Amino acid sequence: MREFDLILFGVTGYTGKLVAEALLASPEPGLKWAVAGRNLEKLKGVVADIAQRFPEAASLALVVADVADAAQMADLAKRTSVVCTTVGPYAKLGDAMVAACVAEGTDYCDLTGEVSWMRQNIDAYHSVAAQKKCRIVHAAGFDSIPFDIGVYAVQKHSFDKYGKPSTVITTATRALKGGFSGGTVASMGVLFDAIAEDRTLLRLMANPYALVPGGTGPDKNDSKCVEYWPEHGVWTAPFIMAGCNTRVVRRTHALLGMPWGEDFSYAEASGTGPGVSGWMRAHLLRLALGTLVLSLAVPMVRGVLVGWLLPAPGEGPSERQRREGRFSARVVGECGDERVVVDVSCEGDPGYLATSRMLAQTAVALAKDELPEMYGVLTPGALMGDVLLKRLPKVGVHFKLRS
Ligand SMILES: NC(=O)c1ccc[n+]([C@@H]2O[C@H](COP(=O)([O-])OP(=O)(O)OC[C@H]3O[C@@H](n4cnc5c(N)ncnc54)[C@H](OP(=O)(O)O)[C@@H]3O)[C@@H](O)[C@H]2O)c1
Repeated sequence: MREFDLILFGVTGYTGKLVAEALLASPEPGLKWAVAGRNLEKLKGVVADIAQRFPEAASLALVVADVADAAQMADLAKRTSVVCTTVGPYAKLGDAMVAACVAEGTDYCDLTGEVSWMRQNIDAYHSVAAQKKCRIVHAAGFDSIPFDIGVYAVQKHSFDKYGKPSTVITTATRALKGGFSGGTVASMGVLFDAIAEDRTLLRLMANPYALVPGGTGPDKNDSKCVEYWPEHGVWTAPFIMAGCNTRVVRRTHALLGMPWGEDFSYAEASGTGPGVSGWMRAHLLRLALGTLVLSLAVPMVRGVLVGWLLPAPGEGPSERQRREGRFSARVVGECGDERVVVDVSCEGDPGYLATSRMLAQTAVALAKDELPEMYGVLTPGALMGDVLLKRLPKVGVHFKLRS
C-alpha cells in the first residue's frame, strides 16, 4: 500500500496546473493525491492560486523533486501508485521519471507526442515494465486520445454490429480552434534540434510503424498533399498531429494482438470542407503548416518568434481562449460494404482544456479502475479504450456513433 494513489508532477507548469484543476473539478471519490515540482516556494504559490477556486487544494501534499536528482525521482516513484507528469519537453526532461517508475513498478502517464522518445522508451522499457507488471502510458492528451479512442470506438461498433473490424479507417478534422503553450513550442524545438544532430530520426519518424518495432503493414507515411476524401465528402490538407496519432493507433492495434487484421490501414488529415472553398482552404492550410514547420525548424527564427509571436515556457492560451477553443473530427471505418462513423468532439481548447481533462482521467483510471491485464509501454486505446469511452464524455470529450 503506497502513501498516494497519484502524484501529479509538473503542477507549476502551464499544463500541469490545468491538470490539477481538472482533478479538482471532477473529484474521484477516495483518491489520495499530491502535487510535485522542483521548487517548493513555486509549488506553494501555485497551490495557493488553485485554492482560490478550489479551496480543497490547500490540503494537497507537496513533493519536491527535480529530474536531475535520481534519489528524488526514486522517492517520488516509491510513494505513489501512479505518476502523472507534465514535465516536458519529455525528450529533454522525461527520461529520469520513466526510469524511476519502471524501477519501482509504478504506473505512469504523460502528454508526450514525441514519437522518437516514445520509441526509445519502448525499446528500453517495454519488456522490463511488462515483467514488473507496470504500465507506462504515453500520449494521453490531445496527442493522441481523441484519435486513438475514436478509432477504438469505430472498431468496437464494427464488431458489435457487423461481427468484423473495419479494415480501413480515416479521420478528418472538422473544426479546430486552440493555442500553443511554451512547453509545446519547446518540445517542437527540442525535436528539430535532435533531428539536426541525428538525421536517422527523420527515417524513424517517417516510418508509419515507428512505434511497432519490426512492424509492417499497408500504410505509407502520411500524405503531404491536398486530397479529396470522398468518404468524408471534404478536401483535406496534411494534419500536423498525424505523424504522432497514426503511429499511436498502429501501436494500439499491435498491443491488442492485431484484431483488426494484418491489412488494417489508418490515415488522418485536416478536413477543410467541400467545393472550391474547401479546396482553397486546404491549399492555404498546407502552406501555413509548411511555414510554421520551417520557422520552428530554424533555431534563429524560433528564437525570435518565442516570446513575441509564440509563448515562452510557462505561458499559454488565456482562460477565455481556452474556453472558446473547440475541436471536432469524423472517424470513418470501412467495414465490408458498410460504413461506421464516429464523431469526436472536445469542449474548449483541445490542447489544454480538453488535454488536461483527458490526462487527469487517464491517471485516475490507472489508479482506480479495473483494467485489462496488460503491461509495458502502452497506449490509452490498448489499455483503457472501454474505460475512457465511459469516463471522457463526463468531462466534455465525446465519441458519438452516427451510423
Ligand atoms: N500532447 C498534448 O496534447 C500536449 C498538450 C499540452 C502540453 N503538452 C506537453 O506537455 C509538456 C508541458 O507543457 P507546458 O506548456 O505545461 O510546459 P511548461 O509550462 O514549460 O511546464 C514545464 C514543467 O516542467 C517543470 N520542470 C522543468 N525542468 C524541471 C526539472 N529539472 N525538474 C522538475 N521539473 C521541471 C517546470 O517546473 P518550473 O515551473 O519549476 O519551471 C514546469 O512545471 C510539454 O512537453 C508539451 O509538449 C502536450
